[in-house]
Amino acid sequence: MLLTLKKILQFVHFSTLKYRNIRRYCKNVKEDMEIPTNSLKEYYSANDQTNNGFIYDNKPFKFTCIAGKTYSWCLCGRSNKQPFCDGTHKNIHLKIKQKPIRFAVTETKDYWLCNCKQTSNRPFCDGTHLKESIQEKRK
Ligand code: FES
Repeated sequence: MLLTLKKILQFVHFSTLKYRNIRRYCKNVKEDMEIPTNSLKEYYSANDQTNNGFIYDNKPFKFTCIAGKTYSWCLCGRSNKQPFCDGTHKNIHLKIKQKPIRFAVTETKDYWLCNCKQTSNRPFCDGTHLKESIQEKRK
């Protein structure tokens, strides 16, 4: 009986901590977050891809993007240089259909780049990673 009660308390404590961490993280994201848009979206057909890639991580990556510079964000989720493309999608043996998303920003500052690869606002995080199905996935 005492052992069961101890286990229940441990579980509740763990769940509370986990929830707090996610909440704190989400709060930070929202404070910084004004969802930007990709200024190159209209120029590259890769932006029209309908399939999302493999869930690489369950949280976004903060990166300082420089205005006017072009970046290639990994959509397939298999790159070893996340969140950017390293050309892994070109490996014919992996049969990856997704292509990287070229993007640029108009202002030099920190941006939250999606690492779950499920965002609707590629390559920027739009909060989709907060879905329970994505939070459950761990690398
Ligand atoms: S990491 Fe936030 S939507 Fe993908």
